[in-house]
Amino acid sequence: MSTARSITDTRQGLMARLTDARRQSDALFGVLSPEGLLERPIPERHRLIFYLGHLEAFDWNLLSRALEIPAFQPSLDQLFAFGIDPTDGGLPNEPASAWPPEAAVREYSRRAREAIDQGLESVDRSDPRLQNDVLIHVAIEHRLMHLETLAYLLHRMPYALKRAPKAADLTPPAGAMQAGRVRIPAGRATLGLPRNGGFGWDNEFEEHTVEVPGFGIDVTPITNGEYLEFMRAGGYENRELWSDAAWEWKAREGVSHPGFWVPRDGGFAYRGMFGEQLLALDWPVYVSHAEASAYARWAGRTLPTEAQFHRAACGTPAGEERRYPWGNEPPEPHHGNFDSQRWDPAPVGSYPAGRSAFGVADLLGNGWEWTASRFGPFPGFVPFPFYRGYSADFFDGKHFVMKGGSARTAACMVRRSFRNWFQPHYPYVYAGFRLVTM
Ligand code: AVJ
Ligand code: FE
Repeated sequence: MSTARSITDTRQGLMARLTDARRQSDALFGVLSPEGLLERPIPERHRLIFYLGHLEAFDWNLLSRALEIPAFQPSLDQLFAFGIDPTDGGLPNEPASAWPPEAAVREYSRRAREAIDQGLESVDRSDPRLQNDVLIHVAIEHRLMHLETLAYLLHRMPYALKRAPKAADLTPPAGAMQAGRVRIPAGRATLGLPRNGGFGWDNEFEEHTVEVPGFGIDVTPITNGEYLEFMRAGGYENRELWSDAAWEWKAREGVSHPGFWVPRDGGFAYRGMFGEQLLALDWPVYVSHAEASAYARWAGRTLPTEAQFHRAACGTPAGEERRYPWGNEPPEPHHGNFDSQRWDPAPVGSYPAGRSAFGVADLLGNGWEWTASRFGPFPGFVPFPFYRGYSADFFDGKHFVMKGGSARTAACMVRRSFRNWFQPHYPYVYAGFRLVTM
């Protein structure tokens, strides 16, 4: 398992991490049958073949620009430069034939990797153009993020078009914890990352503290079983529980149940990564922000704010704060369901070693958690000069912060300052929620 490392890593160590991330993305494409590469499993996103080129084009664009290395195939550098954010309407509709043949994309990717490695070998690590290795960290974590994007895209593919890798999923530690709520006393939450605190994306800076009034929070995330009660109570038909925009989305898309549930025999089955299975009532439910908010209103409670999540995760009764919920030690598999140990969730509360000082479980891994906080800049935010739109393009008031991590989130990105974000009507991500009470 890879752990979070600091900016003082050796170049050799960083290159080993890049190589490992490439191995993982190659393996992920190996899950897909060749016929599937031109599919578009999620209407808002690109066809899968885009990602085959994008992972390499991204790294190459970053490095070739910084080191002023001439392009070898500029049209593909541009074609594969950026993915698209899901939007309400305006779906991509180019035909499959618009893409270059797979062999051409693979050849481009091979050459790009080769050129990147040569480029990096040719410069000293103290070269200011590499910005203190920030560019290499960006390449590594960008690829690791796309491992998760690819996993949830592949999740939507017909089972006949993918094959499970031989390695079996890790079994979660035994001994599920009791559900319940705990009281978090008023106190301080430190959000963000200090400028000398190691690698972080632009949106993680700067570090700042927030005073958080006392609140109660669920020990474990809302499960499929709990969500079923909301459905049986007519939650999807109750207009009062939904905002105007959510109600309109629900009607337009015909949403009447979580996106990972499949109607079967008058009930529901679960859409697992490699097969349909019984709906596990003790797994966290994965839903959109709109559905999580409707459930919260039904329950007379709210989603946590980003600061409340921090406080529940890293605060302690004594007042000092921890790096991780369990303490300051780097993430290990027994702390939670992250770092690709599994393809699907584990029962909530399966990782007692990962719980926080306040006894809150499943904070890192087993599904991102929606917050009530809109994604925006922290005080002192400065966009990355080499990727100005990475975060800033999404400071539009339409995206919500997700914290924690899923089964497919790399260990280095379960650091406490990491922030993820999506629009409220995006039901495809491995994301669920828990609730708070004032
Ligand atoms: C941070 C996960 C919201 O997938 O849209 C990948 C990450 N940005 N390439 C996304 C990202 C550019 C981004 N998220
Ligand atoms: Fe990307």
